[in-house]
Amino acid sequence: MNKIVAKKDLAPNIKLIEVRSPEIAEKAKPGQFVILRVDEKGERFPLTLVDWDRQKGTITLIFLEVGVSTKKLGTLQVQDEILDIVGPLGIPSEIRHYGKVCIIGGGVGTASAYPIIRALKTAGNRVVSIVGARTAQLLILEDEIRKFSDEFYVSTDDGTKGHEGFVTDVLNELIQKGYDFDVVYAIGPAVMMRAVAEVTRPHRIKTIVSLNPIMVDGMGMCGACRVTVGGKTRFACVDGPEFDAHQVDFGELIKRQRMFLAEEKLALQLWENRGCSCHE
Ligand code: NAD
Ligand code: FES
Repeated sequence: MNKIVAKKDLAPNIKLIEVRSPEIAEKAKPGQFVILRVDEKGERFPLTLVDWDRQKGTITLIFLEVGVSTKKLGTLQVQDEILDIVGPLGIPSEIRHYGKVCIIGGGVGTASAYPIIRALKTAGNRVVSIVGARTAQLLILEDEIRKFSDEFYVSTDDGTKGHEGFVTDVLNELIQKGYDFDVVYAIGPAVMMRAVAEVTRPHRIKTIVSLNPIMVDGMGMCGACRVTVGGKTRFACVDGPEFDAHQVDFGELIKRQRMFLAEEKLALQLWENRGCSCHE
């Protein structure tokens, strides 16, 4: 169970794995996620389901190696097993015929946008996709997303590919040109999702974001993923992860995401120095 059957480097520190997990593959829907534990001592962390193959019984996950858990996951090779994977979790995206939709993926959040782009295109929407990364080397899934998009735009912060600047510049430009989107989806860093919400708010465009707070149980019991939406406390794992962007308290989300930054940094230092005698 949970055996890695394929592995690919997509960009520096961004990896794709295909894992044998027939029960999750059977039920997976766009917008849902899984919670993994790499080994007995590992923490639990969420990853969005990027793709699934019900016939092969596999799921595809993409992750940025940023902390101990994702770095540990990145060390596993084809044929290795992940200790536990729970899912699919979360309420699936509402896939229907909206009309004209714009889907924005920022950085590794692009991986989470991909299944939604695919499903919205298949549902008959006119799909405009905007994908952004800090630099061209960090862009992922361009060909896959282009295939399911009527229009496809790229931005890089440093201008190495596409528009030089943020995804929000591209969105703003399209709106100024008269694109009347029925819905905008944004998935990426919280600062990006907040910026997208501020672009669409004055135009009253329905905007959906997929929130990524710290999660532990993924069952609505531990409270780790608490977010405030429309002044009410919601749990991203069971009430989300998708919410109305114009109602989300992004300031609180960003603060809570950084709650354990010092501990995460220390854990990473200890893990990277494992095996050396400096901590004995
Ligand atoms: P990043 O910091 O490189 O940013 C990616 C893009 O987002 C940038 O190129 C830019 O276009 C846009 N952006 C960033 N800051 C912005 C701002 N202030 N205003 C407007 N646009 C801005 O992204 P990364 O390092 O790859 O990190 C990806 C993030 O996505 C992580 O924080 C991860 O937790 C998150 N993520 C979210 C989900 C989800 O479901 N919401 C899923 C996977 C990853
Ligand atoms: Fe525990 Fe959501 S992760 S309540």
